[in-house]
Amino acid sequence: MAFVHLDIRCLYTVLICTSFGCVLSSNTEIKVNPPLDFEIVDPGYLGYISMQWKPPLSLDNFKECTVEYELKYRNFDSESWKTIITTNLYYKDGFDLNKGIEAKIHTLLPEQCTNGSEVYSSWSEATYWTPPQGRGETKIQDLDCEYYNWQYLLCSWKPGVDVPFDTNYNLFYWYEGLDQAIECAEYMTSNGKNTGCRFPHLKSPDYKDFYICVNGSSQSMLIRSSYFIFQLQNIVKPLPPEYLSLTMKDSNEISLKWNVPRGPIPERCFFYEIILTEDYTTWVFTTMENEMCIKRTSNKSHQICLLVRSKVNIYCSDDGIWSEWSEEECWKGDTWKEIVIYFMIPFGFISLFVLLVTLLLLYKQRSVLETIFDSRKEVFTRQETLC
Ligand SMILES: *[C@@H]1O[C@H](CO)[C@@H](O)[C@H](O)[C@H]1NC(C)=O
Ligand SMILES: *[C@@H]1O[C@H](CO)[C@@H](O)[C@H](O)[C@H]1NC(C)=O
Ligand SMILES: *[C@@H]1O[C@H](CO)[C@@H](O)[C@H](O)[C@H]1NC(C)=O
Repeated sequence: MAFVHLDIRCLYTVLICTSFGCVLSSNTEIKVNPPLDFEIVDPGYLGYISMQWKPPLSLDNFKECTVEYELKYRNFDSESWKTIITTNLYYKDGFDLNKGIEAKIHTLLPEQCTNGSEVYSSWSEATYWTPPQGRGETKIQDLDCEYYNWQYLLCSWKPGVDVPFDTNYNLFYWYEGLDQAIECAEYMTSNGKNTGCRFPHLKSPDYKDFYICVNGSSQSMLIRSSYFIFQLQNIVKPLPPEYLSLTMKDSNEISLKWNVPRGPIPERCFFYEIILTEDYTTWVFTTMENEMCIKRTSNKSHQICLLVRSKVNIYCSDDGIWSEWSEEECWKGDTWKEIVIYFMIPFGFISLFVLLVTLLLLYKQRSVLETIFDSRKEVFTRQETLC
């Protein structure tokens, strides 16, 4: 619809221009100034930046109008601008502070103020860029953060390349709700150097940008800082599922079940990967439920084994980390037959044999005892006769 309207308007303009020698409407006379004092301000939140401005001069002609501002901004090397239309005099968003920021803004008079089409001012522009300190290789490598069971955040890193021996790194973090950036309170260390951070309990830190800066210092050179932004629900590593069970429903169907991992993650947020091994064949499949039924490929299979791992699903996060694999649980076919064949029968024979031998021994022992007793009796009787 919008395109159709636009087309018709263009057509009219063209018609008017061609037939009447282009008499432009009074709209061209309406002009508006760009916003004043446009600036990009870093409040020290490690990437959460404020863009602010003041209303343009001589707005008096449009007192009944709500003036709008169209703001465009991006990191230096990104291809597209983010565009916002607002009536406020500031706007805040997260940026990658490893790079510079550029932004531009103009005043916008909506159609209802001008009896015609929208009127824009020229652009006001601003940039924000702190040239990075130190060589690029001095910054930390491979920051790895995992949010265990949606409860405990842990980050670790490796030191930069060829950094002086006395180099040490510090981690700072911020998210909406904290008054200021906070330094890690519990570092993990290796040879006296910080290599990771164990975060304290965080108060509602998920579903919002989480900002991290790892900077460092050394006596002999400058160390480059690195900035990171992520959302905690996207780096959750759940616990593995527990109490796996396999039960035969009939000779063809087998029912698989396991317990939802313990902890604060709701049941509906899980996604499972299953490895099922039927004798020598392996299948891999996924499900959102913590139970399922499968058909056996053959009702003669001897052993079916199950392994499950869990991850947070797309209804609760954009991404996640697989848990460790659960303990393996197996079902063995025709177990009683095997027990009878391989265990009960030999055991029966052995028991019988042992019993026979015992009886035999007992019998023998008894006869020996009896002979001894008999001879003693004889001795006594002889002594008696002597007295
Ligand atoms: C818009 O049109 C109305 C009536 O046609 C007029 O009273 C008003 O002054 C016009 N406003 C502008 C900004 O031209
Ligand atoms: C590291 O960053 C924090 C937070 O921005 C800052 O307060 C601190 O001075 C920085 N340290 C170094 C050595 O640059
Ligand atoms: C095993 O499967 C075969 C073929 O599908 C079927 O004929 C047979 O009855 C099944 N055996 C049992 C014990 O269910």
